[in-house]
Amino acid sequence: MTAEHAAQPHTPVLLAAVLETLAIRPGATIIDGTLGAGGHAAALLEAAGPDGQLLGIDQDPRALALAAERLAPFGERVTLVHGRFDRMAALAAARGIAAADAILLDIGVSSMHLDDPERGFSFLQDGPLDMRMNPQGDAPTAAEVVNTYPEEELADLIWRYGEDRLSRRIARAIVAARPLSRTGALAAAIEGVYPRRRTEKIHPATRTFQALRIAVNDELGALERVLPQAVGLLAPGGRLGVITFHSLEDRIVKQAFRLLSTDCICPPEQPVCTCSHRAVVRLVTRKPLTSDPAEIARNPRSRSAKLRVVEKL
Ligand SMILES: C[S@@+](CC[C@H](N)C(=O)[O-])C[C@H]1O[C@@H](n2cnc3c(N)ncnc32)[C@H](O)[C@@H]1O
Repeated sequence: MTAEHAAQPHTPVLLAAVLETLAIRPGATIIDGTLGAGGHAAALLEAAGPDGQLLGIDQDPRALALAAERLAPFGERVTLVHGRFDRMAALAAARGIAAADAILLDIGVSSMHLDDPERGFSFLQDGPLDMRMNPQGDAPTAAEVVNTYPEEELADLIWRYGEDRLSRRIARAIVAARPLSRTGALAAAIEGVYPRRRTEKIHPATRTFQALRIAVNDELGALERVLPQAVGLLAPGGRLGVITFHSLEDRIVKQAFRLLSTDCICPPEQPVCTCSHRAVVRLVTRKPLTSDPAEIARNPRSRSAKLRVVEKL
């Protein structure tokens, strides 16, 4: 980790919108399921002062170490846990937290991941093909995925999680270039697939790297599992905010929030309700909140961020 990372490891996105929509009150109990460098957490703790409590969860031990330093001034108001947020209910219960007033999830990779070539997330800087957010866990590395998956499975993965229309050709090129152990070699193999005069603005490897990262860390599965748990943990009037960075994630949040905020889910042609499904939340944001041009200029990574918030009934 460079001095630059230590000084400014990650700029929290949509911070003002998070503070406004989560409506934190003094003394609030808060859970930050994606603690990262603790930027959002510090602001939430300020808002919940002087005695609000925060449980901070992250699967990356390095992020936790940074957050511990940043949040040290809040002393015993902060509890840090190394774990995955899709175990939020169990992690909270183990620390005696039965209900929370606010829960935040700021999904995905952090600048610390992307900017450190040794973590293997970057196609711009060469590094080992790793991509595990928790290097101590039992998830496969990106190298294991690209070197062992059959070509068809690789193509499906690149299509499903990267939505790259050249997924089949990319998978063929990856298989031909095996064994791959470095991000630079993988990026070069993908670049060879794309026509010379590309009009697209993004790097040819962007979508494949996104797909591998999502698969390695089971990102979409974790998001699907955490949403009902987080809503279950909210106190009445408590709020859950989720920030996502691409359409696959946003779709999961949008659909889950729609279901959780709907009473009857019987087919429309059915005259009488038989499902007894009842809304447990109301939508605070009907449309997702996004960054304004000033924030995007300051922090280009915020350009695709979307914040959706619900309130427990
Ligand atoms: C975008 S960063 C969060 C940044 C943070 N809000 C801040 O202000 O510094 C996302 C963090 O969530 C963590 N993370 C991603 N998926 C996770 C999961 N399933 N369980 C726990 N932590 C996860 C990553 O390790 C990363 O540190």
